[in-house]
Amino acid sequence: MPLRYRPPMIPGQFPATRLRRNRRTPWLRAMVRETLLTPASLIWPVFVTEGAEPEPIVTMPGVVRHPVGSLGAVAREAASLGIPAIALFPNTPADRRSADGREALNPDNLVCRAIAELKAATDAVGIMTDVALDPYTTHGHDGLVDAAGRVLNDATVDMLVGQALNQARAGADILAPSDMMDGRVAAIRRALEAEGFADAHIMAYSAKYASGFYGPFRDAVGAAGRLTGDKATYQMDPANGREALAEVALDVAEGADSVMVKPGLPYLDVVKAVADRFDLPVFAYCVSGEYAMVEAAVAAGMLVRETVVPEMLTAFRRAGAAGVLTYHAPFVARLLGR
Ligand code: PBG
Repeated sequence: MPLRYRPPMIPGQFPATRLRRNRRTPWLRAMVRETLLTPASLIWPVFVTEGAEPEPIVTMPGVVRHPVGSLGAVAREAASLGIPAIALFPNTPADRRSADGREALNPDNLVCRAIAELKAATDAVGIMTDVALDPYTTHGHDGLVDAAGRVLNDATVDMLVGQALNQARAGADILAPSDMMDGRVAAIRRALEAEGFADAHIMAYSAKYASGFYGPFRDAVGAAGRLTGDKATYQMDPANGREALAEVALDVAEGADSVMVKPGLPYLDVVKAVADRFDLPVFAYCVSGEYAMVEAAVAAGMLVRETVVPEMLTAFRRAGAAGVLTYHAPFVARLLGR
């Protein structure tokens, strides 16, 4: 799906036209800048643990799993930095995981308690929750698995509807199905309407690829050692671009309020194609592996965080993304605030 390219509109000819004139000084560069990156474009993914102390994640240096009790401080930090929303990801204790992931339906589960803690701290920050079974299953898949190891679509959708309602009742503002089952957005939307959650926002992980870049995240939520096989029967083939547009079209028709492309930088062409074709906000998820690559290079003295991170995030905005989920959110927000 190469992007169709129009021949450039060259405004004139050298020396009458010298494009460097617009780059001469900082004020001039600011005046002609085409895209802006502000904290309002950042969504901050936050891991939560049942433990009492913050737990470092070895594969994501600088990121910790937060105890529920510290989430008030996290929410206030986001609010003071101008970050509009936090996306919650639980590391469910082993004894709460099962083959059918039924802990996802427990109104007192880790995510529901995390929502309550965030809500109590501030209502200036939106709360987003992941709709998928992988933090709750013993096999690490996002859905129910049959005896032959197949991930079942329709039975999983029933569970996801229950999970989404559970999160909405707990106070989640944005429900983000990341499971890639067919038809789940329509089913979740119908259930939300029926239960009086007409204002609940659905941000659909529409074009979510079967990617190697999720590795560190699976460590963070304790799914890495559990996953049997891969997710290629439900997440998208990285080789496909046109199919992403079909996924987005379906999710929009089914009632998504915004859509997402994931991972981020390796799929920037898809972000751009979706933004060009659909008049709803598109978000991108700059995932754990992308974060880890930057941090490894920074630690090795090969890259400078202060320059490459804003550059990466600006690229998403330039491609047409309304915003980006990034583990660097507090870092960049602080940098932009200076
Ligand atoms: C699970 C989920 C994943 C991510 C977000 N939700 C991992 C997966 O599908 O295996 C990945 C996020 C990241 O890598 O930062 N449904």
